[in-house]
Amino acid sequence: MVDTITRGGVSLQNALNDADAARRLAALDVSQRLRLQRMVSDRARGGVPIQYVLGEWPFADLTLTVRPPVLIPRPETEQWTRWIIDRYRIAAESDSVATTTTRSNPKPKSSQPPPPLCVVDLCTGSGAIALALAHHIPNSIVLGVDISSDAIALANHNKARVLQQPIKNVHFAQCDLFDSTALTALTRSTFNANAGPHLIVSNPPYITRAAYRALPVAVRRFEDSRALIGADSTTAPLPGMKHYEAVIGWARSVLQPHPFTSPTAGAGGGDGVMPQLVLEGSGTKPHERALTRVLQRIGYSSPASTIVSFDDYFGRARWTACFAASTK
Ligand SMILES: C[S@@+](CC[C@H](N)C(=O)[O-])C[C@H]1O[C@@H](n2cnc3c(N)ncnc32)[C@H](O)[C@@H]1O
Repeated sequence: MVDTITRGGVSLQNALNDADAARRLAALDVSQRLRLQRMVSDRARGGVPIQYVLGEWPFADLTLTVRPPVLIPRPETEQWTRWIIDRYRIAAESDSVATTTTRSNPKPKSSQPPPPLCVVDLCTGSGAIALALAHHIPNSIVLGVDISSDAIALANHNKARVLQQPIKNVHFAQCDLFDSTALTALTRSTFNANAGPHLIVSNPPYITRAAYRALPVAVRRFEDSRALIGADSTTAPLPGMKHYEAVIGWARSVLQPHPFTSPTAGAGGGDGVMPQLVLEGSGTKPHERALTRVLQRIGYSSPASTIVSFDDYFGRARWTACFAASTK
């Protein structure tokens, strides 16, 4: 059905022109056909984003339910989420090699498993990032937080339905990230004795009011403006960056070292070193520079930490990561 709609364009007749789609359409019963007809006309007349028409969208090997007004997860976000997962895998593999044997001491050193990686996803929306991290990093406890009750309801729905069994190592809670006391209490009760968080990730709202007015109608009509417009701050270099300031300030006060985030993480080091803080940005150079300045001002500066920005598939500066070590 997904292929039929996306490739078939806006009318059922267009879809029927495609021989493969026609074969699939013929296999639909009457109620399925009616549903498809409704979806196609929604898309054609109302400009409903294709993801909302379909009601589901893939993200890091999970098929998530998506529905208005909760933000549709974007491919750029999936890209850096997978980047974190890959880094964790390399860190875990090189750590298990390092803790099992070393060249000078071929005897196993320790078989103690590392403590769970405690992660907070601030501004979780549909729960996409939190769910993907929890699923692909089984030795983790992930807390996803959002101010929107619609977002938390959808994230919990996805937690329960995205696999055959609910994903147990992820938790969602409604909280305003500007309320740092509530956020810290929530984190303590979620991680208990595990002493996290060790990693904080966030794709906060960052669009200015002026830029929001220029967004396509379909975005403004269906996606929550709170998911997009960043609050202004007099202390940030650009408008719309107050959410970042709150995330970074809170991260600075609560982050704890984890074996995989330390400078000596994994004998392999290098690419396997885990970041402690990962923030999605707008994809422009001025925004990336402004974000780096906010990070430095709040306390993420060398030699204690290294700030590195990474490009997305389209070559745009998309995410900025802070490492506890001077290793990329
Ligand atoms: C850009 S969306 C990101 C959603 C999801 N993480 C993703 O990448 O698809 C930003 C999210 O931040 C939430 N948000 C906005 N202000 C917030 C606040 N003060 N505290 C917590 N969440 C907030 C919105 O409800 C929205 O779900």
